[in-house]
Amino acid sequence: MSAVTETVFALSDLPSGAARKAEVAGIPVAVVRIGDDVYAIGDVCSHANVSLSEGEVWCDERELECPKHGSAFSLVSGEPGTLPATQPVPVFDAAVVDGQVVVTVTTDESTSTEAAS
Ligand code: FES
Repeated sequence: MSAVTETVFALSDLPSGAARKAEVAGIPVAVVRIGDDVYAIGDVCSHANVSLSEGEVWCDERELECPKHGSAFSLVSGEPGTLPATQPVPVFDAAVVDGQVVVTVTTDESTSTEAAS
C-alpha cells in the first residue's frame, strides 16, 4: 500500500454545500465542502456506476446523496444511511493547505505495473 497526495483544486473553486469530482492516482473522488471543512469519498456509488459528486450534499447530516436512487453516503464513514446501496464507498483524507484542497488516497501497489527494483 502506498499513499498518494495530490492538490485537486483551490478551495475557492468549491462553494460550501457543493460536491466536485476529482481524480487522484487514477481514482475518482467526490470532494465535498461544508463551510471550511472538506471531505473526500469514492465518487462511484457502491450500488451502480454513478458519479456521487453529481448528487446533493446534506450539510447537517454530512452526507452525499446518490443522484440515481437516493442512497445517502456518510462523508465521515462512507456508509450508506439509506437503501438501495448497502456497501460503503471508500473515505479519503482531505485537507486545505494554503487555500488548496489536498486529497490523499491509498493505493494497492500490487496492482502497479511498475517493476520493483
Ligand atoms: S446508483 Fe447510487 S443508489 Fe443506486
